Amino acid sequence: MSNDQRNQPATRIEPLSGPLRGTINVPGDKSISHRAVLFSAMAEGTSRVMGVLDSEDVRSSIACVQALGAQVSLEKQPDGSLAGGITGWGAAGPKQPDAPLDCGNSGTTARLLMGILAPWDITVELSGDASLSTRPMRRITAPLMKMGVRFEPEGREHLPLRETGTRRLRPIDYEAPMASAQLKTAVLLAGAYAEGTTVLHEPARSRNHTELMLPEFGVPTTASDLMASVEGPNVLKAAEVRVPGDPSSAAFLVCAAVLAPGSALQVENVSLNTARVGFTRTLERMGAQVSVTRTGLSGKEPSGVIEACHTPSLRGCEIPAQHIASLVDEIPILSLVAAHARGVTVFRDVGELRVKETDRLAAVIEGLAQLGVDAWADGDDLFIEGQPDLAVPAGMRFDSKGDHRLAMTWAVAGMTAGVPVEVEGFESVKISYPGFLADLERLTR
Ligand code: S3P
Repeated sequence: MSNDQRNQPATRIEPLSGPLRGTINVPGDKSISHRAVLFSAMAEGTSRVMGVLDSEDVRSSIACVQALGAQVSLEKQPDGSLAGGITGWGAAGPKQPDAPLDCGNSGTTARLLMGILAPWDITVELSGDASLSTRPMRRITAPLMKMGVRFEPEGREHLPLRETGTRRLRPIDYEAPMASAQLKTAVLLAGAYAEGTTVLHEPARSRNHTELMLPEFGVPTTASDLMASVEGPNVLKAAEVRVPGDPSSAAFLVCAAVLAPGSALQVENVSLNTARVGFTRTLERMGAQVSVTRTGLSGKEPSGVIEACHTPSLRGCEIPAQHIASLVDEIPILSLVAAHARGVTVFRDVGELRVKETDRLAAVIEGLAQLGVDAWADGDDLFIEGQPDLAVPAGMRFDSKGDHRLAMTWAVAGMTAGVPVEVEGFESVKISYPGFLADLERLTR
């Protein structure tokens, strides 16, 4: 590690004070919370939303739709979520904001807004923080340009970008080059306002929250295995959205329970959407004691309970390319579990990790190397050679690179091994799970 890195502020993470036991609710799902806020802002009338995640990313979406003229009156609830009403701009459209829209660290905010702004003849500049300003945007601007939207500077890959929409959007039939729910959603949201049918085909199944939620807002939507379509022109109509718990946040608690001796926990009221809970299947294939029980629906989203127990003996496994989208955000924490398993774990075709909040492929390999674990990339495949007796030395210092999911992964590495570690940029957990440490502590009481 370089001296520069040692000079960055780091947070000392204490080991767990005991096994993780009991029952917990995790905060609302981040993907569904963004959609609840953004779709309500587009709609005619006042939508009611409940269980919305209160995190920096969702706050970025809220601030952007307020700048575009939506009336947001959400209040903090005793469970820490946000609930209340959002009155959208409806058929009148968003107002021309006075300043660039700052999407912060949130790729979902920036990319979904591009689709949302497409049908309106205003010019809006979208910007983001240093991380978001390096993330690819042509995947979104390319299909929207085919529909008639203009982006300036033309052909630019990164934010900041200025978008000028059009009231005469053309519907498209689009083959997405990658499985991306953000790309799919941007095209469908624009397509809802174009005259005719807009169709999107994807190479693997990405999360389908948009296809499940759009009909609730009155937009005729069809979805099959690798295809989704909307009919337009339409204006979204106010709806009620109840956001279930976030499986991506639950994954950190579940994996911590699998690794921490004596642990047995239940996460309740969590989304069990199959496009999201691939990590439970991977853990089962590694031999972990994990089970999933469906108890009901939150809107159209299946939800229920995930149970997990400490599992001393884990084995490596191979995760095929077509399953990656269902666990893409869980690869850092699954990699840590794989580091403790006997044999090699292979995640196939995970090139998309390079363009997340940071290059997660490189960052996982680097962090595991610090632990003395052999991990490497071969093309777009990630290999991890696990060590069943892996001992984490006390006082290790990890760099989250400002990425919330890496910050939580390296925290879990130390906490479950019973040693203190330091994590640089740990405050990034506020992007998706501000109460992460408090929830783990509650489970040890
Ligand atoms: C998200 C989609 C995924 C995911 C991201 C949230 C969404 O990204 O990694 O954290 O809410 O649609 P892709 O669009 O790249 O699949």
